[in-house]
Parts: sequence; structure tokens; C-alpha cells
Amino acid sequence: MTTKDKRVVLAYSGGLDTSVAVRWLTHEQGMEVIALVADIGQGGDWAATRERALAAGAVEVVVVDAVDEFARDFVGPAIVANARYEGKYPLVSALSRPLIVRHLVEAARQHGAGAIAHGCTGKGNDQVRFEVSAGALAPDLQVLAPVRGWGLTREQSIDYARRFGIPVPVTKDSPYSVDQNLWGRTVECGVLEDPWCQPPEEVFCLTTPVATEAKEMVVSFERGLPVALDGRPLPLRRLIEEVTATVGSFGWGRIDMVENRRVGIKSREVYECPGALALLMAHADLEDLTLERDLSHEKARLEPRWAELVYDGLWYSPLKLALDAFMAESQRHVTGDVRLRCEVPGRCFVAGRRSPVALYDYQLATYEAGDAFDQSLSEGFVRLWGLGVQTWAARQEAE
Ligand code: ARG
Repeated sequence: MTTKDKRVVLAYSGGLDTSVAVRWLTHEQGMEVIALVADIGQGGDWAATRERALAAGAVEVVVVDAVDEFARDFVGPAIVANARYEGKYPLVSALSRPLIVRHLVEAARQHGAGAIAHGCTGKGNDQVRFEVSAGALAPDLQVLAPVRGWGLTREQSIDYARRFGIPVPVTKDSPYSVDQNLWGRTVECGVLEDPWCQPPEEVFCLTTPVATEAKEMVVSFERGLPVALDGRPLPLRRLIEEVTATVGSFGWGRIDMVENRRVGIKSREVYECPGALALLMAHADLEDLTLERDLSHEKARLEPRWAELVYDGLWYSPLKLALDAFMAESQRHVTGDVRLRCEVPGRCFVAGRRSPVALYDYQLATYEAGDAFDQSLSEGFVRLWGLGVQTWAARQEAE
């Protein structure tokens, strides 16, 4: 085997499966594993993560700070597209996979690796997102999916890690599978696999209700993107972090849903996305004030399609790219402020909105005296509007 054939860059999270994968690829497959950790705002102790990868047998660990890139290139477009899969899930994990693949490919090129690898099982969406994205960005690279291949149960994986001295931070009785990044947190497994069972409070960590007093935030948008909070300009990443913390402290931003995975399985999912849900709500509200009617309605038809493509792993696809162009064009005048108000217990809502380029015209809308709207024009309009129906109705009567 040449070095290139032997070398693989693995998307490493520091969790049980990817830690076992490092050891597995190294010792069972004779590969040299470069562990790539993408920091996308999940929080974590990178020194411990690095140690763990090395203990498992990685020849090198690369930690990339990709939080700003994630915010700019992935979360930004999702805000613009008001993206929620099946009307609910703001695509937390789905948005991150194409970014991770971008970095896997880059690292593979840098280190002369002929393959990349991920730690997804064969039952989920993430394998689809990794592999379809890899096929788009680097069709020459091999993709290895050790977890899908080995068929170990979770208990067996824990035993395997113990046996080879890999320090993993899970025990057999912390049964949840969690994925987290700047845009939110996903929780699966354990008692959540029974859709009838209410999620126990212990699964939540971004939405613990601790606030005692109402709070308002003014989010300023420019061309569809949030750029300032209460008048303070902030990088998107910081702004999302702040909104997440504030809204989350009201215990708002939870989603409990049964969702249709791409692979044909229905699954019960619990999400906490306080920042994402609040910012999406604010963004959509500002669009109501600034988008012309036809554009607004057509965009609303395309949004679910955008979300579905991203969910299905088609981030790098021609339709998704074309829709991006539509979405970007639609945002030219989505500029203004939205007042987000949080109240105890557990409420968050839009309390007001304003824009220097609003299409809302007080002079047209008002019922007060002195308005600019000539109501006599409506008479002819309404008559012609209803003419077709009236003609049809007259014929019905004649029959
Ligand atoms: N159901 C969600 C999705 O498909 C969450 C997936 C979480 N991924 C994970 N590896 N825990 O996007």
C-alpha cells in the first residue's frame, strides 16, 4: 500500500463512535488516521479531545476553528431561506455536514490522504450528507464508514473503548446521542425512542428556564442577515450565541417531533434551538414588512424545497445553488429591526418591526382621516375582479 492508500482523514467528534473508529481503522485496517475536529460552536475541551484521539491511535489531530465560516456560509443562507425541515427542524446537523466535508477534503489534500471517513451509522441522514457532499467536492477520494460496517452495539463499543484504554466520556447509563453546534442541539436515543414518552428534563441544556423577568432584544437585519443586537454591531456568530443564551434562559426553543429521515425511517427527535427559532421568527416577520406579495408567496413555496434538499444531503447540488441565487436576490430589501420579546414563563414573540424600506405604508393602511387611498377606485376593481365568477353564477341559475 502507498502512503496515500493508507492515509485517511476521519471526521472526529471526540465521542464514543469516532474514538472507536480511530482504533478500528488503525489496528484492524492498518490505516494511518488523521483525526479532524471541526469546531462549529459545539463547545468542548479541545485538549482532552486531542488526547483522546491520540490515545485511540491517531497519527495526527487537526482542530479547525470553523465557527465563523459555519455562521457565514451555512447558517446565514438558512436564515435567509427560513429553513425548517418539515416545517419544524432548523437543520442543525444537516447544515454542518457539508462544512465538515469541505474541511475533510482540504485536509486530505494537505496530508496526501486517499480517503476520508465518518462515524455515522447506516440508519441516519448524516451518512448521506457526508457521502453525497464528498462525491460532489472530491469524487476521487474514497469514503470509509467504519461504524456502518462493524455492527457493534453501543455496549460493545463502550467495552471495546475500555479494553483498549480509550478514555471516552460515556457510560452505559447515559444513553442519549447528542449533536450540537452554533445553531442548536439535537438529542436522540434512550427513552426518547418511545414517541409517547415525554422528554425528561435532563435531556435539555440550552433551554433551562431560569429567567425571572421579561426581556426585549432588538435584532437589526441587513439584506436578510442579522447584523446587530440592541444597536451593537456583532459578527453573526456572536449574535447567535447571545440570542441563544437569552431566549434559552426563558426555556423557549424546544422541538419534539417525529421526523421522516431520508433513508425511510421515521424517528422521534428532540431539538433545542432557542437562537435559531427566535432569529428565524424575526427574519420571517421582517420579510412580511418588506417583501412584495408575489415574491413573498413564491419564496414561501420554495423554502420547504430548500430545507428538504439540505436535509437530504444535497447542499452541493445544482438545484440548491440555483435556489440560493433566488433567495439572495429576494433579500435586497430585507433590512430593518425586529423587537423580540421574551416573557416568563417560556414565551418569545415578535413585539414589533420597522424598516427604512418597508412596503407597509401608513397612509395607505390607516383608517384615520386624511389618508392617501382613493376608495372610489375600489368599486371598479372589485367589480372586474368578480366578473368571471358573476358570469359563471348567472349561467348556473339559467340551467
Ligand atoms: N435528525 C436530525 C438530522 O437528521 C439530527 C441528527 C443528529 N445527528 C447525530 N449524529 N446525532 O439532521
